[in-house]
Amino acid sequence: MRKNGFFITFEGAEGSGKSTQIKNAVTFLKKKGRSVLMLREPGGTRISEHIRAILLDKKLKEMDPVTELLLYCAARAQIVREKILPALKKGKVVICDRFEDSTRAYQGFGRGIPLEAIERIGRLVRGDLKPDLTFVLDVDITKGLARGGRHDRIEREALSFHHRVRRGFLALAKKNPRRMVVLDTGKPLESVSRKVRERLERVFGK
Ligand code: TMP
Repeated sequence: MRKNGFFITFEGAEGSGKSTQIKNAVTFLKKKGRSVLMLREPGGTRISEHIRAILLDKKLKEMDPVTELLLYCAARAQIVREKILPALKKGKVVICDRFEDSTRAYQGFGRGIPLEAIERIGRLVRGDLKPDLTFVLDVDITKGLARGGRHDRIEREALSFHHRVRRGFLALAKKNPRRMVVLDTGKPLESVSRKVRERLERVFGK
C-alpha cells in the first residue's frame, strides 16, 4: 500500500524551531529530486483546519482533556485518509509538522491520559501508518515559549505542563531510538541543520 513513499515527522515543544528545520529538509529532498508534500497537524485539510481552530481557541478554557484528545484524533483521521496515505501511495515524501507523538506528549504526558488509551484510539485513527523517521527538536521550555509567544489555548498552559510535554518527547525518543532522532536546539542552528541533512542522507543518499 505504501509503495516507495516515505513519511517524516517533526516534533517538539513550543518554539522549538520546527519550521526552520522543515524548510531545511524540504530543500535537501528537492535537491535529491524527490516530490515532497508538506503538512501540519492539527490541520492540513479543510475539516482538520476547522478542528484546529476549535482546539487552539483561547476562549474555550473549559475544554475537557478527553474532548481535546478526540478532537486531535478526529483532525488526524481526516488528514491521514485525505492527504497522507494517497501521497505515500504515489511515492511522495510526506513531511508533517507534528503527528501522533504530539498526542502522546501533550495529551498523554501533559494531560495525564493513559498512553494505552491513546494507542488504542491511535490504531483506529491511523491504522498501521507510522512515521518512518521523526525528528524531535528539544528546546528549553522558557526559551521556546519566549520565542513562540503564549497566544493560543495550549501555549497558555502552565509551565509545569510544558515541562511534562518536553520530558514526554524525550521519553518517547528513548523508547524508539531507531525512528526518533533528538536534536538539541541549544546548539548553533547550522549544526542542527547539518544533523538533519546527515540523517536524511542515510535514507536518501549523499
Ligand atoms: P503548532 O503550534 O505546532 O501548530 O501546534 C498546535 C498545538 O497543538 C501545539 O501547542 C501542540 C498541540 N498539539 C497537541 O496538543 N496534540 C496533538 O496531537 C497535536 C498534533 C498538537
